[in-house]
Amino acid sequence: MASYTLEKVMIPRSSFFLWWYLCSLSFPQDAYCNPPPSSLTASNTGSPIRTIYQWPNNTAVENLAIRSNGMILATILNSPEVWQVDPVRETATLLYRFPAAASALGIAEVEHDAFAVAVGNFTLSDLSEGLGSWAIWTVDFNGRRGNDHVSWSAWGRWRNKRNDRGRRPSSQPHIQRVAPIPSVFSINGVTSITNSSLILLAVTDASNARVGSFDIATGTYSTAISSASFPNQGGADINGLATSYENNQLTLYATFNGGEPVFGRIPIHKNGTAAAAFEVLLDKPAWPTNADAPQGADGITLGRSGTVWLATNSGNQVVRASTVDSPSDAVVLAGGPNDTLIAGPTALQFGRTRWDEDVLYLSLTGGFAYPGATGVVGGRVVALDTSRLEQPFEDQWIDGT
Ligand SMILES: *[C@@H]1O[C@H](CO)[C@@H](O)[C@H](O)[C@H]1NC(C)=O
Ligand SMILES: *[C@@H]1O[C@H](CO)[C@@H](O)[C@H](O)[C@H]1NC(C)=O
Ligand SMILES: *[C@@H]1O[C@H](CO)[C@@H](O)[C@H](O)[C@H]1NC(C)=O
Ligand SMILES: *[C@@H]1O[C@H](CO)[C@@H](O)[C@H](O)[C@H]1NC(C)=O
Ligand SMILES: *[C@@H]1O[C@H](CO)[C@@H](O)[C@H](O)[C@H]1NC(C)=O
Repeated sequence: MASYTLEKVMIPRSSFFLWWYLCSLSFPQDAYCNPPPSSLTASNTGSPIRTIYQWPNNTAVENLAIRSNGMILATILNSPEVWQVDPVRETATLLYRFPAAASALGIAEVEHDAFAVAVGNFTLSDLSEGLGSWAIWTVDFNGRRGNDHVSWSAWGRWRNKRNDRGRRPSSQPHIQRVAPIPSVFSINGVTSITNSSLILLAVTDASNARVGSFDIATGTYSTAISSASFPNQGGADINGLATSYENNQLTLYATFNGGEPVFGRIPIHKNGTAAAAFEVLLDKPAWPTNADAPQGADGITLGRSGTVWLATNSGNQVVRASTVDSPSDAVVLAGGPNDTLIAGPTALQFGRTRWDEDVLYLSLTGGFAYPGATGVVGGRVVALDTSRLEQPFEDQWIDGT
């Protein structure tokens, strides 16, 4: 008889439906009540790495965010697109093609099931060509109706909450441009601050790399942390951003590529400005690199108990470092300099349902920017089951090829 494993308790199918019905009345907004997708749980043999979706050659997947219902939103570097990827059915759907731009980069959830995306013209060889093209857009799944206008004001939020009561999340999001940011050359990573309409942006402009803040409610942009606060001014661009909130302190983590250091952190105020000095956590890559490509790290996400996970882009590796012990003991958990499966990892995020909370989803360029020895393949979204990747580096060189 078919049955589902729920918190290690086997529930027969007949009573599962009753359980599911009661559960979905209590949690109408997410995937909490759904049975464990067999593709996430039934693979205790075989590789802990699974390709969820692969785009055609020369489609560089740049960033991703996970919806609370388990779906993955992925942006494309060399096409102004945002896609929705279903990690269970292993399908992908184009949600939107942004007009008058060439690229979609950082994406972050700004309030429940609403995401900010940085859209503009990203030119690898000369970022300054993007001047005048950048804007922040929102992709909102809350099914708000009305005159095509999402209001982020306190009044609007209250009204939206009333409108949304009991409504299921819509699959067709409401997408709109919030405001342009005319002064920047490029925007890379984006992160949000909990309970705030501010997002933080990894920005490069005429006076260098910095962290900008953008208020989704008002559309105003300003510098939050100037380049003088970061080491190696003039060298590396800031690439990935992540925030943590522990012991009443907000902290911003940042990665750099094209130079040293690799990553570090800075305590910040709620308005995004620095509350103390930047601390370098890892100076040099502590993993095998490809000599000809820019070194450093791209995407960053925070795991449980002080772990930091890095996507190394040109290094074709996923690395776990510890902020509690020493980040220089960083462990390579997947890939290698010549790997063609973990090819050009740009961003990574853990799953958000109880079924995939240990699964790290990666976006990959397929080697688009730094083909290295292996050439270019199609960009992908890949799932890494981290619960099965716990051995140290020496025992655990996972080559996806
Ligand atoms: C950005 O790229 C798009 C698409 O290639 C182009 O139409 C637009 O003019 C560019 N914008 C700027 C400011 O260069
Ligand atoms: C955000 O707001 C919620 C509800 O007011 C509160 O429970 C939570 O602690 C807040 N989180 C942070 C990080 O401020
Ligand atoms: C940001 O917040 C800090 C702490 O509340 C304050 O000292 C600072 O003036 C604020 N900066 C801006 C630009 O609002
Ligand atoms: C990667 O490929 C290059 C060129 O074929 C080779 O020289 C290098 O040793 C390889 N690196 C690893 C770690 O296998
Ligand atoms: C992908 O495209 C690149 C550049 O156009 C080409 O060099 C490479 O051979 C292609 N790879 C495949 C698998 O088609």
